[in-house]
Amino acid sequence: MGERLKGRVAVVTGGARGIGEGTVRRFVEEGASVIISDLQAEAGEALARELCAAARFIRTDVTREEDVAAAVDLAVREFGRLDCMINNAGIVGAIGSIKDTSVKAWDATIAVLLRGVFLGMKHAARVMIPQQSGSIVSLASTAGVMGGLGPHAYTAAKHAVVGLTKSVASELGQHHIRVNAVAPGNIVTPLTADVVTGDPANYGVTEEAIRVMSPLGIAGFPIDIANALLYFASDEARYVTGHTLVVDAGQTTGATPSMFHLMDAGIIREAGRRDL
Ligand code: NAI
Repeated sequence: MGERLKGRVAVVTGGARGIGEGTVRRFVEEGASVIISDLQAEAGEALARELCAAARFIRTDVTREEDVAAAVDLAVREFGRLDCMINNAGIVGAIGSIKDTSVKAWDATIAVLLRGVFLGMKHAARVMIPQQSGSIVSLASTAGVMGGLGPHAYTAAKHAVVGLTKSVASELGQHHIRVNAVAPGNIVTPLTADVVTGDPANYGVTEEAIRVMSPLGIAGFPIDIANALLYFASDEARYVTGHTLVVDAGQTTGATPSMFHLMDAGIIREAGRRDL
């Protein structure tokens, strides 16, 4: 139990499972009170019960403005303020070729991944501007900084989250509100388990699939992202705004093996020996 968020109040959208659940648990460990905001009432209510006085659940669809407004208002009503807004709720959304993507699937994906983040920023700002303090952190993705790592609508929405983060950071800085994003690489969650195996509970196979793709040779877990979100939520990030922190075991450092791997394999041995 630490004190990095002692006395702070946070809303975590998509807080019932996966990265959101990991973040709720990590924030409570560091002394925060947290509103768990999610579509999934059963899992969200169970988590809130387990965390007792430190958490409340509210059923939220982040595509609906009145729902997001209600989650923010609950934080103020129950805990007196809002210090940190984590815009985490997400889906994979529309998949497949651009030529086959329907407008309906496209719009539904953008509604969750981009409108949801916009609404979280908007309603957090409503409360944080009068306070003259706060930290807003949104979930982008490595698919938000590179092409080819996710479906088209997902990639477009996550790039937009990076852009919106910079834009809103430039407005809200004057109110001492920091606005940042975290871009995870592959993390073992129900979302990735579903993508990899078709079963959101199959963590074993998912962990191994993620591990073999990871330049560090390890799989990422919700705690790895929760720790990055904790940094942005805490005063340790007091001089950081408009930033997107990639947390991906080096996946986006390059698509080809590194020079060091090529040297080890003897492929660029001569160049490696040359004095520079
Ligand atoms: P997950 O599927 O395990 O959890 C997502 C949560 O969001 C669920 O509890 C779900 O009920 C909730 N949710 C979905 N639509 C919602 C809506 N309209 N309103 C309210 N809640 C809603 O997903 P995971 O993996 O924990 O992802 C969390 C965030 O991290 C997402 O934004 C995702 O795009 C992002 N991300 C995840 C990565 C991964 O490898 N798991 C990689 C990069 C980004």
